[in-house]
Amino acid sequence: SKLVGLVGWRGMVGSVLMDRMVEEKDFDLIEPLFFSTSNAGGQAPAMAKNETKLQDANDIEALKRCDIVITCQGGDYTNEVYPQLRAAGWKGHWIDAASSLRMKDDAVIVLDPVNLPVIQNALAKGGRDWIGGNCTVSCMLMGVGALYKAGLVEWMSTQTYQAASGGGAQHMRELLTQYGTLNAEVKALLDDPKSAILEIDRKVIAKQRSLSGAEVANFGVPLGGSLIPWIDKDLGNGMSKEEWKGMAETNKILGQGEGFGSPAVPVDGFCVRVGAMRCHSQALTFKLKKDVPLADIEAMIAADNAWVKVVPNTKEDTLRDLTPVAVTGTMTIPVGRLRKMAMGPQYLGAFTIGDQLLWGAAEPLRRMLRILLQ
Ligand code: HSE
Repeated sequence: SKLVGLVGWRGMVGSVLMDRMVEEKDFDLIEPLFFSTSNAGGQAPAMAKNETKLQDANDIEALKRCDIVITCQGGDYTNEVYPQLRAAGWKGHWIDAASSLRMKDDAVIVLDPVNLPVIQNALAKGGRDWIGGNCTVSCMLMGVGALYKAGLVEWMSTQTYQAASGGGAQHMRELLTQYGTLNAEVKALLDDPKSAILEIDRKVIAKQRSLSGAEVANFGVPLGGSLIPWIDKDLGNGMSKEEWKGMAETNKILGQGEGFGSPAVPVDGFCVRVGAMRCHSQALTFKLKKDVPLADIEAMIAADNAWVKVVPNTKEDTLRDLTPVAVTGTMTIPVGRLRKMAMGPQYLGAFTIGDQLLWGAAEPLRRMLRILLQ
């Protein structure tokens, strides 16, 4: 069986990937070779078979042995190791969760329920770099990819509600610590049903504004009880890098736009960090190329893949099925709040949610591994 190198398997995305690979029995089909940046020579985890010692993740010769490398180690690692590995003549398949190589011409952003033809076409041409997409984009396309596949989208605007996990494990801890700090600040007043709400509010805002140092080390400003309308780098043109990814990656995943000889579909909007744990949510507005009846749209979306679920646009269904709390830890991608908007019959509104660590990160990688093993 193929020798598959695993790098960054201990981190948050890596751990989710390992769990999914165990669940889906991927290890039955491969000989895993576990790498470490800090503990080479140590004991590999239980999924190891013949190769029971951890390899040095910076050892190009050890990496060269692999038919396939899957890395969740992060962009700095990719930038450092990938060029050396290719320069050393390695011809294996590189599957990567980091964004470093995503926009490279010969790299494919993998999301096979949406772009299997793009993947197969690249494979046939000798493609060897398979990169996971931005979590928000991947979750969005798992939900409403049907509309793109049908060529119905003239443009899309997205307003996101992105979870702390998108920043990393430390960001999740920071959010929860802030919630705890705020609660502790007003606990006595909360316990007294006769206390004044404006007094509670004054104490909370004073505490939020006083948070500093380690309490806001990861997000820079308080997120608990607030939100942050900027994610990733400042591109200097008024856009955040996360917002830029929306259009660039959506089109690249679909195999259209720049480099594919067809027009790109405009995708733009605002990306906002909110105090959710690991599910990214987004409100979408579409301008469709024509007026399609809502029932037809719902049917197309529902039939697109095995994980998308149309949530009826009622309060009851929305509260039950269309929240980060309902979706976390599941593979389901709910799409709800579907309705035509006041601007006209070609304008469609939708709201979708996805677990940022599953479809947003780990799952497309292990599915790409499966494609390579076929
Ligand atoms: N950039 C995403 C976020 C993470 O910060 O939520 C994964 O692509």
